[in-house]
Amino acid sequence: MNSDNPDQPALLGGTPIRPQGPPLWPTDIPGVAEAIIGAVEDGSWGKYHGPHVEKLSKQLSDYQQREHAVLTCSGTAAIELALRGLKVGAGDEVILAAYDFKGNYQDVLIVGATPVLVDVDPLSGNLDPTLLSAAISDATKAIIVSHLHGGMVPMREVMEFARAHNMSVIEDACQMPGARIEGAWAGSWGDVGVFSFGGSKTLTAGRGGALVTSRSDIVQRITLYNQRGNLAYPLSELQAAALIPQLEHLDTANAARAVNVATLCQLLADFPGLVPLQNAVADCEPGYYKLGFWYHPEEFDGLSRERFSQAMRAEGIAFDPGFEALHKIHSARRYRAVGDLQTANTAHECMLTLHHPVLLGTTADIEEIARAVHKVKTHASALKTHPEQFESPGGRSSR
Ligand SMILES: Cc1ncc(COP(=O)(O)O)c(C=O)c1O
Repeated sequence: MNSDNPDQPALLGGTPIRPQGPPLWPTDIPGVAEAIIGAVEDGSWGKYHGPHVEKLSKQLSDYQQREHAVLTCSGTAAIELALRGLKVGAGDEVILAAYDFKGNYQDVLIVGATPVLVDVDPLSGNLDPTLLSAAISDATKAIIVSHLHGGMVPMREVMEFARAHNMSVIEDACQMPGARIEGAWAGSWGDVGVFSFGGSKTLTAGRGGALVTSRSDIVQRITLYNQRGNLAYPLSELQAAALIPQLEHLDTANAARAVNVATLCQLLADFPGLVPLQNAVADCEPGYYKLGFWYHPEEFDGLSRERFSQAMRAEGIAFDPGFEALHKIHSARRYRAVGDLQTANTAHECMLTLHHPVLLGTTADIEEIARAVHKVKTHASALKTHPEQFESPGGRSSR
């Protein structure tokens, strides 16, 4: 039970800043309820084939300005299909950041190739393209580039490198559909762009994914692999029906998130222990599935990142540790590491992420985040030493 004490951290029994917890996701996204009801009324919800998958494919390929879109059962499946479509297989190497979504690493292994891990940029926390040349070998076939936590990879540089070395690029835009990088859509730079429609994502169907490409040879190979009398990696009609209005609403939602991120970053500028990921990419508009921060415990009286995020969750704010770095959780026999991966180590230990639903909130919601950070910082010393007394009002974390 928490006492009625707004000054005390909720983790130590005080009143949470957001007793209702973080905003739920998905929220009431315009058009989704009507689309689902419509699919129920016309029976398309329960059919193998109908208008929605076709419509969403067309909508996504138009939006991304790529000739083809293939809808899949997850982003992870889309990465695997992209690798297969690019003929990546046994004996090949695939470069990716040592700090990345672990499914990407596993997809490389699943097709029989070897992951080659490169370090990330100390400002953006994302793959550092200047390290690519040290990573290549005769076996390198492809690069997987993910844009993570509001950080972005300079894609022009990556593509120029890949073209010069006859390699393919899979651009993972699962965390930022609708973002712009150097003037083009995230996901439209690579030979293949990949998206996720998982339950926590900004475009959600609970599960689902997609890939886009302008290369028919890739689509042909993917179709051969995916089509086994029926699709092995399908997105359903009902899922597609729910996604169509979300894609229509995406730019509006992304713009609203960007305004709130700017406000939040301004409010948090007084806290040197929380440094937002920074992009040195020209002409970019990031997307925010997570907003990433470098956490500096020394600025919070030595409060660990885990304890900080617990304390924020107890206040009703969805802060969580970021990904685990790939070389920290996999056997060194399965990958090749390039250099000491020092910044990826830092990301493993220090990355914090704020989950996106609050970024569609009001300015008051955003101010609550800063107030909670202030409260946790003020009581950092006590939070370090006292046992936890309070169950987080927040839901499950979604790393
Ligand atoms: C960067 C990145 N790539 C790929 C995925 C996989 O997407 P899915 O959960 O749809 O398989 C995720 C999911 O969080 C992700 O963050």
